[in-house]
Amino acid sequence: MSKNYKIAVIPGDGIGPEVMAECVKVLNVIAERDGSFSFEFTTFPWGCEYYLEHKEMMPENGIEILSKYDAILLGAVGYPGVPDHISLRDLLLRIRHDFDQYVNLRPVKLLEGAPCPLEGIKPEDVDMVFIRENSEGEYSGQGAWLYPNTDREVVIQDGVFSRMGCERIIRYAFELAKKEGKTLTSISKGNALNYSMVLWDRVFNDVSKEYPEVQTSSLLVDAAAMNMIKNPKRFQICVTSNLFGDILTDLGAAIAGGMGLAAGANLNPEKKFPSMFEPIHGSAPDIAGKQISNPLASVWSASQLLDFFGYEDWGAAVIRSIEKILHEKEYLTPDQGGSATTSQCGDRICEILKTI
Ligand code: NAD
Ligand code: IPM
Ligand code: MN
Repeated sequence: MSKNYKIAVIPGDGIGPEVMAECVKVLNVIAERDGSFSFEFTTFPWGCEYYLEHKEMMPENGIEILSKYDAILLGAVGYPGVPDHISLRDLLLRIRHDFDQYVNLRPVKLLEGAPCPLEGIKPEDVDMVFIRENSEGEYSGQGAWLYPNTDREVVIQDGVFSRMGCERIIRYAFELAKKEGKTLTSISKGNALNYSMVLWDRVFNDVSKEYPEVQTSSLLVDAAAMNMIKNPKRFQICVTSNLFGDILTDLGAAIAGGMGLAAGANLNPEKKFPSMFEPIHGSAPDIAGKQISNPLASVWSASQLLDFFGYEDWGAAVIRSIEKILHEKEYLTPDQGGSATTSQCGDRICEILKTI
């Protein structure tokens, strides 16, 4: 009997809907080709336009609605006219938090044919996976605002690092490193962040004792940023905190083909709640509505969804189709030096997948 997956689709703002349309097309082609599973997509119009009309980013019971789905696909959130700290915190960050999607898995992999600004760097030199803590840390959203709008105003932005929170993400990274036979780098900043990162380093050290077969190292985040540029080959699996992971994966995108090629999976590994798949770029207001956005990051996130459901062969086929389109050059969007539209690029990916 064919397995049917119920997927909640939140296209969101700016270029979100454009890239999402291509991601959905790709998943439908794959389901059709495979025949043993299908996708049932339900689209939710949540985002900044919704906020302007309803004064909320999603309905009050939005989380409850989403909890009935097997997975969530997200386009992008945020648009001028709604403050970012409202739009992102009440939708994207709320979903990550409330569904305990504590693993943010972001490949930083330079595909054959993708541009790299670093001289002398070959695709095999940039092949990392970032495991970003995704439920607490610097993103806890806790703090205080004292004497607002006066010349005495004081803000306190708390970072929350629990032993449990550090341990589960670090353990996830160790398991992945062990499974794939790769090295693991912990990235922290204990020299300045004398509570949070000292705990992080201590937990990393504790957990490492259970994995003698995994070769580890620890880097300070500033040195890690430098080394990602100077010697990207040195990194395989990396585990880091929420904010450091955010920043380093944009740096990663820059050396692995650009924002148009960077995807991320927000995972609840226990599958107690749905996981969410998205490109890591934003809503790109500067190019929204022009049909020139690159859909390949969103398509890559479809590959992560397929992996998560256990269809790794199809996940790999999607990556191969991206490699092929990069190699052909003809159907690339302007950010990749091409002149194709968003949907021409997505259509070509679908054609390639029909022949694989
Ligand atoms: P951005 O990622 O939207 O854009 C940065 C630059 O990259 C822009 O020049 C943009 O044109 C380009 N770019 C991004 N995606 C592209 C694509 N698919 N194809 C071609 N070019 C692409 O980041 P920003 O400008 O800092 O943020 C814009 C808005 O998006 C803000 O409201 C921000 O908070 C939000 N944001 C949302 C997410 C998300 O929903 N996951 C992620 C990052 C930023
Ligand atoms: C990302 C984004 C988000 C983050 C923003 C939009 C809140 O930059 O997914 O990388 O910081 O996690
Ligand atoms: Mn980011």
